[in-house]
Amino acid sequence: MKILLLGAHGQLGRSLAPLLASFGELQALTRAELELHDLPALRQGLRRERPQLVVNAAAWTAVEQAEHEPQAAFALNAAAPAALAEEAAALGAWLLHYSTDYVFDGRLGRPYREDDACAPLNVYGQSKRAGEQAIVAAGGKALILRTSWLYSRHGRNFLLTMQRLLRERAEVRVVADQFGNPTSCAALAAASLALVARIAAGNPGPGGLYHASCTGGASWYELAEAIAADLRARGEPCARLLPIAAADYPSSVARPADSRLDCSALQRDWGVALPDWRTALAACLAGPA
Ligand SMILES: NC(=O)c1ccc[n+]([C@@H]2O[C@H](COP(=O)([O-])OP(=O)(O)OC[C@H]3O[C@@H](n4cnc5c(N)ncnc54)[C@H](OP(=O)(O)O)[C@@H]3O)[C@@H](O)[C@H]2O)c1
Repeated sequence: MKILLLGAHGQLGRSLAPLLASFGELQALTRAELELHDLPALRQGLRRERPQLVVNAAAWTAVEQAEHEPQAAFALNAAAPAALAEEAAALGAWLLHYSTDYVFDGRLGRPYREDDACAPLNVYGQSKRAGEQAIVAAGGKALILRTSWLYSRHGRNFLLTMQRLLRERAEVRVVADQFGNPTSCAALAAASLALVARIAAGNPGPGGLYHASCTGGASWYELAEAIAADLRARGEPCARLLPIAAADYPSSVARPADSRLDCSALQRDWGVALPDWRTALAACLAGPA
């Protein structure tokens, strides 16, 4: 199977690349090799390479910066996926794309299902929602996986930031009234591979939009506590954690208060489930740096 991976140097892309390589001919492209703002180059690249599966792990993920550069965020999170989906549809190829829990406003009071109403609170969420809609409108064979609170041992993420702050400071304040599903890139990549395996075997489930996060909700504070417990268990210096309200955390961006995702549809339709977030975090912390 000929696979094209975009965003190969992102935190998810780095987890996906070695797994996808086991499925045949993988072309893993970084931003330096394919600039997604250049839509003609993107379209030409797909027409030239003719992949059977396109995996798009590239995105504008700078949530605060998106408020100041909405056009750039929409170009990457909506226009580029639209072009990808149109070209993939023309080739008859599958598209595997990732979206976010930030398409929701977080006011529902229970884990979100795929058909719950979207109402993004910030530009990043709006741009990702526009990308979802564009992919569906293209009408090809596509899987859109909404995931959340991604972390790994690479890149920019809460895990690495929290480890640094806990080592450097005496006290760290963490938001305790925002809830979501912390998800390791390794767990999401493994689930993605299980989906790709079914596609490669000619036995895919239905295309469309699915929630794909580690199970069990947590607040940022609970996630920080688990990271701190690991540092202490290793005998490393570790700051005191202080729970605070989101309203007391200086941020220019509104974020959903409770964007936990119900991931049962992916298990029902594709037989794929991610582990509990504590299990996935432990595996990430125990693995190689
Ligand atoms: N991070 C989260 O907490 C989170 C939560 C929910 C959903 N998601 C979604 O999950 C997916 C993966 O996220 P991630 O955390 O792995 O993101 P990431 O680490 O920020 O990686 C994004 C990748 O996109 C590439 N990219 C950015 N601008 C580009 C451009 N103009 N042309 C080509 N490539 C470009 C980046 O390349 P460079 O490294 O060269 O800049 C990077 O490799 C995204 O769709 C994201 O929206 C993420």
